[in-house]
This record gives sequence, structure tokens and C-alpha cells, in this order.
Amino acid sequence: MQQKGIILAGGAGTRLDPLTRVACKQLLPIYDKPMIYYPLATLMLGGIREILIISTPKDLPQIEEILGDGSQLGIRIEYAEQAKPEGIAQAFLIAEEFLAGSGATLILGDNIFYGKLDFFRRAIEGVNQDGGACVFGYHVRDPERFGVVEFDKDGKVLSIEEKPAEPKSSYAVPGLYVYDGSVVARTKALEPSARGELEITDLNNAYLSDGELKVELLGRGIAWLDTGTPGSLLEAGHYIATIERQQSYKVACLEEVAFNMGFIDLAQLEELIGETRNPYNKEYLEMVRDEQVGH
Ligand code: DAU
Repeated sequence: MQQKGIILAGGAGTRLDPLTRVACKQLLPIYDKPMIYYPLATLMLGGIREILIISTPKDLPQIEEILGDGSQLGIRIEYAEQAKPEGIAQAFLIAEEFLAGSGATLILGDNIFYGKLDFFRRAIEGVNQDGGACVFGYHVRDPERFGVVEFDKDGKVLSIEEKPAEPKSSYAVPGLYVYDGSVVARTKALEPSARGELEITDLNNAYLSDGELKVELLGRGIAWLDTGTPGSLLEAGHYIATIERQQSYKVACLEEVAFNMGFIDLAQLEELIGETRNPYNKEYLEMVRDEQVGH
């Protein structure tokens, strides 16, 4: 069965207050577009066309106003509320009906990936073929802020620990997870943690103890950007701005991704160009169209 996608975009955004009092964190700008465009583009680049966006009752209508039902991008977007932030893994309980037994890729709405996404496509293919789950390991300076992978001396994964005081490696698990169709049943078997949340790390460890978890280490060619504090938000914006200015290609331009992935055709792209209000974006999409037509 096809993988479906989930973007978890709730939470209180406390560390970014007062920026997050009106707009939610995932709608704050990363240079020239809202943050949520980046994880949505990542899912689309993985070939995922059915996506559920989960957020708070307060923020969901704003997200829906921006992204709509996805038909303009040749995808299908549904929306569901998370009444309270009771854990990242709760997303799978909320998504049970949407998933209807298919595998699920979850991306956190504040996680930005930049680089060649082959690792992600391979993970989806692997889980589709063999079942189980695939998560990633990314070398970071401050692993204690994340889920951290523990390896034995042969590189075999022993466990994942959530925000350990003494991390057993420098490999953090980013907020991008690929699961097979058993994810909902496995989530139902989890107990809430001491902080009252259904922990994504407990779900990953459940797969691991059944011998069903792959951990792919990501190399230096991938950028995984943090957006959790005002400083890292600004840095992520600068990073994207630098790349876009240097290359003259945009990162996470959803219309371009939809067109290049074959989700929309030339006529649909033309229609989007006609509707684009920002003259710079219009010019960019015209370039996308002309480069393709010229090929
Ligand atoms: O970013 C990767 C990390 O994300 C992983 O390495 C950790 O294992 C994982 O627990 C998570 O850690 P965070 O400290 O970033 O988790 P946080 O509670 O801040 O939630 C991450 C995002 O998900 C945040 O933008 C809010 C949203 N969220 C979180 C929870 C718990 C929800 O929408 N609903 C929730 O119930």
C-alpha cells in the first residue's frame, strides 16, 4: 500500500513567545515562505501525495487557509485537531481513520531538511517492501536536546534514548520517521511517559525490540535545520536565503515541486502562475515553466 504522510504542527511554541501568540510556530517565516512549506515539500519530494496535517484547534484553520485541500498542487491534504499536546506518537491515533491501514511517514512541522533526499526515498521503498520502520541518525553538537541513538562497538543499534543527560552517541534522531501499517496498533500498546506523553522514542524502541527498526545515518551532505529558538529561526532563514540567492533556485517552492514530481501538468502550472500575487514568485514560476519546456 502507498505511504501516506502526516505533518505534526501543534504545540504551544512557548520558546518563541511572543512570536507565536497569533501565528503558530509552523507559520512563522523561514526567509520567504512559512515554515510548514519545508516539511510539506519534503514529503512531496518523497512521492507522498496524501497528507494529514495535525495542529491545535486554534491554529488549524490558519494552516488550512494557506494550504487548502492540496488539489492545486496535485495532492490531497486533510486536517485534524490535536486537542492537547499529548505526545508526538499521538499523531498516529489521531490519524487512524486517515491511514486506513497504510504505512505512515511522519514529519514534524518544524523540521527542515535540505540536500539530496535519496535517503528518504530509499527509506520509504524499504519500508514498503519489507515492513518495519526507518528513522535517521544525524551527527549534532548537542545530542542531549534530542532522541539519541545508542550503538554497540559493531555499530548495531541498541536503543534510542529521549533527551538523555549523558548521551551515548552524537547521533540525534531527526523528526522524520517512516513506518509500516502496524504503526497505529503499536502506538495503542504504548503507555504515556512520566511527562504524560506518548513518546515517539518509545514507539521507535518498540519497533527496535521486535527487530523491525532500521536507523540510517545521514551524511554531511544533508542539512537538518533547527527552528526552535529565535536565534535558530533567524539562522535557518539566512541559510535558505543564501542558497536561494546563490543558485537562483528556490528551496521548497511547492508549485515547482508539484510540477517536477509530475503531480501537476503544464496547464495546471500556468493556472498557478496566473494566480500568483507576488511578482517575484510569478517570475520564478515562469522560469520553472520555461526551463522545462525548453528541455
Ligand atoms: O526534532 C527532533 C526531535 O523531536 C527528536 O529528536 C526527539 O526525539 C523528539 O521527541 C522531538 O523532540 P522535541 O524536543 O523537538 O519535541 P517537542 O515536544 O518540542 O515537539 C516537537 C514538535 O512537535 C513541536 O514543534 C511541537 C510538535 N508537537 C509536539 C507534541 C509533544 C505537537 O504538535 N504535538 C505534541 O503533542
